[in-house]
Amino acid sequence: MAWNERWLMVCLQLLLAFLAEAGSKHGNAEFKKVALPHHSFSIPIEYTNLLGDWMLSGASIFERERLVLHPGVLERQGFAFNKRPLQTNDFQVTVGLRTSGPAKVEEVPEDQSFAFWFVRQNISGDFNESRMIRASSWRQGLTDEGYMLSGSKALFEGIGAVFSTSDFNKKPSTAISFVSNDNHQSLQYGIDVPSSSAKVIDFRNKEVEFTFRVQPTLVQASLVVDGIKHDCFSVDRKSFPVKVGGYIGFSAWSGSGTKLPDSVSLTKVEVTNFDDEAIGEDVIGASVAEQTQYSEMMSSDSRHFVDQKSQTEHLVKVTNMLSSHLNENKPVYDVMAFQVSGMIDSLNRLDRDCRLLTKEMKILESKRHHVSKAPKNQNNLEELKSHVYGLRRLLEKEGKAQLHKLEAVQKNLNEVKEQASKASGSSMLTKLVDQTRLLEESVLARSSQMTWMLLILLVVIVVIGVLMFNRMRYYEKKHFI
Ligand SMILES: *[C@@H]1O[C@H](CO)[C@@H](O)[C@H](O)[C@H]1NC(C)=O
Ligand SMILES: *[C@@H]1O[C@H](CO)[C@@H](O)[C@H](O)[C@H]1NC(C)=O
Repeated sequence: MAWNERWLMVCLQLLLAFLAEAGSKHGNAEFKKVALPHHSFSIPIEYTNLLGDWMLSGASIFERERLVLHPGVLERQGFAFNKRPLQTNDFQVTVGLRTSGPAKVEEVPEDQSFAFWFVRQNISGDFNESRMIRASSWRQGLTDEGYMLSGSKALFEGIGAVFSTSDFNKKPSTAISFVSNDNHQSLQYGIDVPSSSAKVIDFRNKEVEFTFRVQPTLVQASLVVDGIKHDCFSVDRKSFPVKVGGYIGFSAWSGSGTKLPDSVSLTKVEVTNFDDEAIGEDVIGASVAEQTQYSEMMSSDSRHFVDQKSQTEHLVKVTNMLSSHLNENKPVYDVMAFQVSGMIDSLNRLDRDCRLLTKEMKILESKRHHVSKAPKNQNNLEELKSHVYGLRRLLEKEGKAQLHKLEAVQKNLNEVKEQASKASGSSMLTKLVDQTRLLEESVLARSSQMTWMLLILLVVIVVIGVLMFNRMRYYEKKHFI
């Protein structure tokens, strides 16, 4: 049912677009900004939903408070690419960045870097993790697949910004380079990047905010450090206009050698669409017809209203879409409302019961004061009290812990599932043990059989001996008589 929200989003966007049209006459640009939820995230991070939008690999992992690109460990790749293209070329990406590591930049590996990308290829689809796993090392896998440009593809069509801990002359520095490629040559780290025009801003060991603003013919970036905004670059793209339909992503390489690398994480990614004639990102769950309808309504033809009549028509269309959305979703909302009211009822009941219990305890306690010779009762009362306190603590404070535990349980369940699939090995082992036991048994049985055989042989030999002896005696008698 997640796409219901999308419907609302689209309707709101259309409404905003309309307001923008009205607002632009008064020069109000704020109306034009629309956030794109499937390309953005912020704290607290709901990673279960986000893994549908983003593909993570290497050492990257979503946590509740951040997206860790890589920890402070050597030879690690950071990889987080969005799976869907941005349907706009007029947008802004704001990123909360945090790097932490050794105090001085001279103390970190020279080839450590991380980057933001806007590329035409579907990198999340191109990157094949199982090849990295099969390679002799992750680094070798990346080299073989051409992914050694800050952990991303060196041959690409698009633009990016690379944060490095050395400059063009390979001197330790904190540099931010603009990178662009037209899919004709593989860029090499250490040669093409960092660039000679890289801007030096100290971004390490603090929380900074990076802004990447793309317009069809202009790309700009800035970095806010300690509340001060620094411009990183401003690139004219009139001869290579930025195209619609690129994928955004982040990548990193923690570096090699012996020095201790930084850990790099993102605390926020916010993508805003400035093109009020484009929806910005695909509407999930909407049919092709619906998508076309949105696009038509947002196109400029239907936006330059000739008169008040056409304005009214546009508004009526938007209102109709909204009301049909509401009608379609009313049953769902009704069920939700019913469930919520049920929950409120049980909470009220709990509240009543608690009050009653408190009252009862008070009465019991006052009785205890009157009847002083009742130590047993007192003990029970104390116990009850501590139980109630325990319950309250559980309800109030441990709610969060329970949630964490549930998540941990889910993780464990997944692990168990994985191990169950590997358990065929252990069943082999039990089979082997069984067979050994069988072998032992049959050996034992056979050795007892052998003893029996020997005994019988002995008896037979004795019998034959006796018979022979008798016969001999008989012949002897016959001979000598
Ligand atoms: C891009 O690749 C990802 C991962 O393979 C895939 O889920 C997604 O559908 C692709 N996007 C498009 C638009 O094809
Ligand atoms: C990844 O590479 C492996 C090994 O070359 C191949 O078998 C597999 O089909 C590839 N996966 C994708 C999604 O291309």
